[in-house]
Amino acid sequence: MSTPRIVVLAGDGVGPEIVGAAIELLESLGEFEFDRRLMGGCSIDEHGIALTDDVLDACEAADAVLLGAVGGPKWDTTDPDAPRPEQGLLGLRKGMGLFANLRPVRPSPALVGASPLREERIAGTDLLVVRELTGGIYFGDSGRDGDSAHDTCEYTAEEIDRITRIAFEAARRRAEISGREPKVTSVDKANVLETSRLWREVVGRVAPDYPDVKLDHLLVDNAAMQLVSRPADFDVIVTENLFGDILSDEAAMLTGSLGMLPSASLGADGAPGLFEPVHGSAPDIAGKGVANPLATFLSVAMMLRHGFGRAEEAVRIEIAVDAVLERGLRTPDLASGTVAPPPLSDVPQEVEVGTAEMTAAVLEELSS
Ligand code: IPM
Ligand code: MG
Repeated sequence: MSTPRIVVLAGDGVGPEIVGAAIELLESLGEFEFDRRLMGGCSIDEHGIALTDDVLDACEAADAVLLGAVGGPKWDTTDPDAPRPEQGLLGLRKGMGLFANLRPVRPSPALVGASPLREERIAGTDLLVVRELTGGIYFGDSGRDGDSAHDTCEYTAEEIDRITRIAFEAARRRAEISGREPKVTSVDKANVLETSRLWREVVGRVAPDYPDVKLDHLLVDNAAMQLVSRPADFDVIVTENLFGDILSDEAAMLTGSLGMLPSASLGADGAPGLFEPVHGSAPDIAGKGVANPLATFLSVAMMLRHGFGRAEEAVRIEIAVDAVLERGLRTPDLASGTVAPPPLSDVPQEVEVGTAEMTAAVLEELSS
């Protein structure tokens, strides 16, 4: 393969810091070409809109897109006519046809104690949220008329069919690695919503093509509850856009920090994907050098795996991230503030570090 070309959209808030760290990581692995562009609030400041056609074209022509985070109080508004940073992200998803959003949730062994849930509940949690990303209420007709407003949720059978297949395929691939029985849980609100009844029907029609994968259906309210009461029982969760947005943040807390979760947004076979941490732009800590780069590193791992077919390097990054956590390194979002471990314990004491030290530690693990 010729040198992979990556469009880099650092975005706002901590975006430039974590993306800068990710570029260091990539440069330590090999040759990459980086094309840095504006998207989000920074693009609004420069061009008046969150995503220009130029940037969208560059993304579509690249081999992959690496995104930091977008948004911040500076651009917060309820004015329906004012530009918002999030429009850039939604425009990219739609424009690049990124219909499949993969959000793996696997608490790093060193962090199981950091979850707000009890350790015995978290133990063994290893799930994947497959979120439909270009349909539903995010992209339906919406509007405001005086004191009334509406957002419309629409889905076609075709949109549901293709995301369902991604979920079943992912369950198979995961089972090959884990040796667990593959399972897909489809989440909807079929007791109330027509789109959900169509969702359930189409998922049911696709399932016989994957007889080796177990399928169950959960209503979204029940799923939200089960996620915290028995997270380890989930394997692949497939759901529509809005439910996936909410459930993936909930699932993220299982790891104790939103700062740890990566994501991949994928389109048709061979089209460039977009890779970004799940967390936001954290404007409160922007520019302080303390942002946690690990979710972005894990997103780089997903880029190597899903975008470039370089699964071995992806695994090396994942192992390196686990290793630095094992050594006790913590950015402030991860620091538990617990007292020193008892004498003779082989559990290393936590050391609070910033973005640069965390990055250096991961690079060191990778080269050792
Ligand atoms: C996410 C985010 C976005 C979403 C926002 C920033 C538009 O919350 O990627 O989960 O709602 O999809
Ligand atoms: Mg979200």
